[in-house]
Amino acid sequence: MALMGSAFFTFTIAMVMFGFVSSAKFDELFQPYWAMDHFTYEGELVKMKLDNYSGAGFSSKSKYMFGKVTVQIKLVEGDSAGTVTAFYMSSDGPKHHEFDFEFLGNTSGEPYIVQTNVYVNGVGNREQRLNLWFDPTKDFHSYSILWNQRQVVFLVDETPIRVHTNLEHKGIPFPKDQSMGVYSSIWNADDWATQGGRVKTDWSHAPFVASYQGFVVDACECPTTTTAVDNAKRCSSSAEKRYWWDEPMMSELSLHQSHQLLWVKANHMVYDYCEDTARFQVIPVECQHHRH
Ligand SMILES: *[C@@H]1O[C@H](CO)[C@@H](O)[C@H](O)[C@H]1NC(C)=O
Ligand SMILES: *[C@@H]1O[C@H](CO)[C@@H](O)[C@H](O)[C@H]1NC(C)=O
Repeated sequence: MALMGSAFFTFTIAMVMFGFVSSAKFDELFQPYWAMDHFTYEGELVKMKLDNYSGAGFSSKSKYMFGKVTVQIKLVEGDSAGTVTAFYMSSDGPKHHEFDFEFLGNTSGEPYIVQTNVYVNGVGNREQRLNLWFDPTKDFHSYSILWNQRQVVFLVDETPIRVHTNLEHKGIPFPKDQSMGVYSSIWNADDWATQGGRVKTDWSHAPFVASYQGFVVDACECPTTTTAVDNAKRCSSSAEKRYWWDEPMMSELSLHQSHQLLWVKANHMVYDYCEDTARFQVIPVECQHHRH
């Protein structure tokens, strides 16, 4: 009985957390904000291209606080050197917060690098870089940002690759007071992206095309007419409502996920700002506490 009860309980939680979130059509959630003529739509697939005239970008129609956003991306195939494809969340204004995935292209056959960054109150400089355990140009893979009041987690195919933990109790600001939009873009960044800018974009290989599908936003939507403070209140659990992202098990990685993150760091991380003593005379404060 007890066993059945607990199995049922686990099942119920799983249903609540994952069961009823299905992917939406691109148009329901997003719109192009840059170079509409650089988009093509093939059924559920959306493709964005970069050529010598322009890059392209799309943004969510709404802003959100807390939850999880996921897109599946198939990155530029073949020679993608000099290009950057980004998937990120960002708020507006000079003191904005931002959670970034940036996929740095490479010459044919050489590995992409995934750079993540976290901006808090307008300040970034928190880059981490890793290579992937698969070729991201061959198939669609899912890239997610999970955000709640305790942590921001970057996930690749549900494997956590980075956690930015709330350390407000140590006096370190944590982004949880501004609603954020969801964005993606592709652009030419051959001044820095590939091998530190040494490899330039070869325009004879243009257009560079990134493909998208499986758009999922399971987050608290914020009306633009509502103040930030009221949105923060609306999007936080209270006596009347419980959001899944405020459940205790969402406040930190599970043991399994911590092991996955250790594996990623040991086998795939190529740069961590926290280890960069040449760049930072004093290692950023949060690094002393981010012990994952
Ligand atoms: C862009 O590339 C096309 C095709 O290779 C070429 O015809 C055109 O002149 C280029 N335009 C610019 C602005 O460089
Ligand atoms: C591109 O490939 C080179 C050679 O394998 C590698 O050193 C580099 O980190 C790769 N990625 C980027 C974005 O430069």
